[in-house]
Amino acid sequence: MTDITLLLRDNIRKLVPYASARDEFSGSAHIFLDANENSIGSPITPAYNRYPDPHQVKIKERLMQIKGLPPQHIFLGNGSDECIDLLYRAFCNPGKDNVIIHPPTYGMYEVSAHINDVEVRRAPLTENFDLDLAAIEQLVDDHTKIIWICSPNNPTGNAFSRVDVEMILNNFDGLVVIDEAYINFSRQQSFIRELTEYPNLVVLQTLSKAWGLAGLRLGMAFAGEPVIDVMNRIKPPYNIGQATQELVLEALNQTEKVNGMIREIVGMRNELAEQIGRLSSVMNVYPSEGNFLLVKIKEARRIYGKLLKEGIVVRDRSSAPGCADCLRITVGTREQNEKLLETLSVLGTA
Ligand SMILES: Cc1ncc(COP(=O)(O)O)c(C=O)c1O
Repeated sequence: MTDITLLLRDNIRKLVPYASARDEFSGSAHIFLDANENSIGSPITPAYNRYPDPHQVKIKERLMQIKGLPPQHIFLGNGSDECIDLLYRAFCNPGKDNVIIHPPTYGMYEVSAHINDVEVRRAPLTENFDLDLAAIEQLVDDHTKIIWICSPNNPTGNAFSRVDVEMILNNFDGLVVIDEAYINFSRQQSFIRELTEYPNLVVLQTLSKAWGLAGLRLGMAFAGEPVIDVMNRIKPPYNIGQATQELVLEALNQTEKVNGMIREIVGMRNELAEQIGRLSSVMNVYPSEGNFLLVKIKEARRIYGKLLKEGIVVRDRSSAPGCADCLRITVGTREQNEKLLETLSVLGTA
């Protein structure tokens, strides 16, 4: 197996990271005049005049209990989107390296590649939305640094075969990033347990979905120490704000409540799939392991516009490869789902 640090960009390998005031002093003191903060306070209480912990120690300690991984294997980002961007910045040389994605999939792998001037190679999912291993093999070359795997996949909703993912992990020497944003809604086990076996594996998770905290922005990357170490070295020093750190800590002590929400959403997703599937205008409701459904429906674009007029916003995915006439619909509250169904059944017959 390749030494992961050999995959790094040269400039990153040589980087001397910024040392924040909070890095340079750790210990106890009662007068802090080292970070050019406003020492008087802030206009709101609790006061937010001090910079937050750049290493988010308390959150990582709590995550260690929940995920069974020590803090050296945990990176926290301003959403998973920041983790995605940092992986490009650490490992992909602009104008030289490439990554592989599997359309239709989450859009930020591609946007972030363009921002970082990294070539995107596409191995579209098969007709059944499985990974196309032969196509991936064809695309890999010496400059392929990352294979992105979103499982369960957005927008198709399915989780990929574990055997296929392991095949990639066993045969590719670059990074394999498994984005598990929707894992809590799935029957599949996380790949976190596989981290000890694969130094090139990165698992992304987020508090934006099952945990219901999209507004706070907290994404997590789990990986071997060399990968986490480099992500910490290149991140903006205070990437997770104080308010987010406090509220996340509070939320991480509410696992029972979160598990209850997950059960409720999964139950409603399954009911909604059945009910939408009975509508005459619906051609297919794809099996979902996420908190959303991909629905193939006659005249998707027209239906999308009509739903909008009724104040219901879904995502029109018709132009994504393999998703002609498809809408992606997030599971709502019970009332919202009922309203959606009612509106869809009227539109379908109109
Ligand atoms: C697969 C996937 N990954 C990541 C994200 C973004 O997560 P975050 O809110 O943590 O940036 C999304 C959001 O829709 C997603 O669908």
